[in-house]
Amino acid sequence: KILILDFGSQYTQLIARRVREAHVYCELHPFDLGIDAIRAFAPKGIILSGGPKSVYEEGAPVIAEELFELGVPVLGICYGMQLMSRHFGGAVVPAGKREFGHAELLAQGQPGPLFDGFFMEGKSPVWMSHGDHVEAVPAGFEVVARTGNAPVCAIQNVALRLYGVQFHPEVNHTPHGQQLLDTFVRDICGCSGQWTPGHIIDDAIARIRRQVGSDRVILGLSGGVDSSVAAALIHRAIGEQLTCVFVDNGLLRLNEGDQVMATFARNMGVKVIRVDAEERFLSALAGVADPERKRKIIGGLFVDIFEEESNKLTDAKWLAQGTIYPDVIESAGAKTGKAHNIKSHHNVGGLPDTMKLQLLEPLRELFKDEVRAIGEELGLPHAMVWRHPFPGPGLGVRILGEVKKEYADVLRLADAIYIEELYRTGHYDKISQAFAVFLPVKSVGVMGDGRTYEYVVALRAVETKDFMTAGWYPLPYADMAHISNRIINEVKGINRVVYDISSKPPATIEWE
Ligand code: XMP
Repeated sequence: KILILDFGSQYTQLIARRVREAHVYCELHPFDLGIDAIRAFAPKGIILSGGPKSVYEEGAPVIAEELFELGVPVLGICYGMQLMSRHFGGAVVPAGKREFGHAELLAQGQPGPLFDGFFMEGKSPVWMSHGDHVEAVPAGFEVVARTGNAPVCAIQNVALRLYGVQFHPEVNHTPHGQQLLDTFVRDICGCSGQWTPGHIIDDAIARIRRQVGSDRVILGLSGGVDSSVAAALIHRAIGEQLTCVFVDNGLLRLNEGDQVMATFARNMGVKVIRVDAEERFLSALAGVADPERKRKIIGGLFVDIFEEESNKLTDAKWLAQGTIYPDVIESAGAKTGKAHNIKSHHNVGGLPDTMKLQLLEPLRELFKDEVRAIGEELGLPHAMVWRHPFPGPGLGVRILGEVKKEYADVLRLADAIYIEELYRTGHYDKISQAFAVFLPVKSVGVMGDGRTYEYVVALRAVETKDFMTAGWYPLPYADMAHISNRIINEVKGINRVVYDISSKPPATIEWE
């Protein structure tokens, strides 16, 4: 396994994902992890991330000096390379010119084992993002590459297995970056690349069995990717000892409840308690128009119902959740806490600790891509594994203002047509999240010989990597026209369809 020390670069998570993509297990820890903890972790290699500071700045992050005496290979990226250079007596200086964006890396001397095959005719395109650079290489190191702007862009000490790169191999804009990281973790660190879906599943199953023994486990199943994969995995491990609770709050998409039951209860034989709570949710929401109050009511009721159901299972000792690695990193970093809050809501969050259940989180170390890969391996339907995210409050935040059953029914039909067409036209997988929104506004239309006075549906589709910023998806006009026609013709109560062309920020992805 590989240890990644985080010096605050916006790309650190990407490094971890790339290492995992090389099928090597890794963990990400803050830069100040003590040397004893590092020794206990027993990494086969260490990667030092980039970071926003200058190495000579007051208060700049430093590392345990003994790290370089462990005898394991180290790869320093950007700030990480500067730290390494400084540690060994090289000189780091502020650049006259900042270098940001594409750059052409020029080979110098022999490439050595890490850079073998990295250059084509002495060049390799890379992505740069730095102010400072290394000017004088420390003793024992040699320069492997430079750019027009910076004299030292890659260094190595082959005997000590220490490597540094000024560019960012972890981003997509460095085309051969994955290859470089693969070479580092496999050839230089000697990791065997066994972190494959099959291996992850076997490992997780053994761990779940060890943890829970013969105890009973409950899990709140939402139909989303994370809770679904967690359910399938735990069921594979302990079968009948798992009971899932699926709350139908009346704010789900068309046939969603039936699909969840078909997949889990019927096909996989998972015990699922389906709680039909549409009326409870809708009556609690009657007359409430404020988005935040609606969210609180939906979240609170969910917790109540989940508690009621779990109290009936008096012998349950564990509460399983589909927490994934980015949630863990977010909350550990606690930078903003935003993503974590959204997630904890989604994961039946804020369950009171009076429940006295121990937490079982079998996906805690996995990235979304890995969760999806093991979901497929466990036999979950492709459409479930690759589904766009769906907010915990469901259609409750996609019906603007007061929620009514009549509105939810209309919205479900319009949304289903929209999504069906996105699948048919091949757009669905290119879009990060798409859905219809119900606007309780009536406008005038004409149908046949008659005048209509009906509601409006807005269509939203966004592209985003992190859901913090997002752009609207340029759906071709012909597809928009077809979708709009179908919705207006097939959904009674809608006579107007609009397409949302707002980016986030300043708009949000959801309308409420
Ligand atoms: P916004 O609308 O804030 O959404 O741009 C960003 C992402 O978060 C989802 N979202 C939620 N998820 N509970 C959830 O579980 C919520 O209350 C909630 N609000 C927004 C949204 O669907 C998008 O993916």
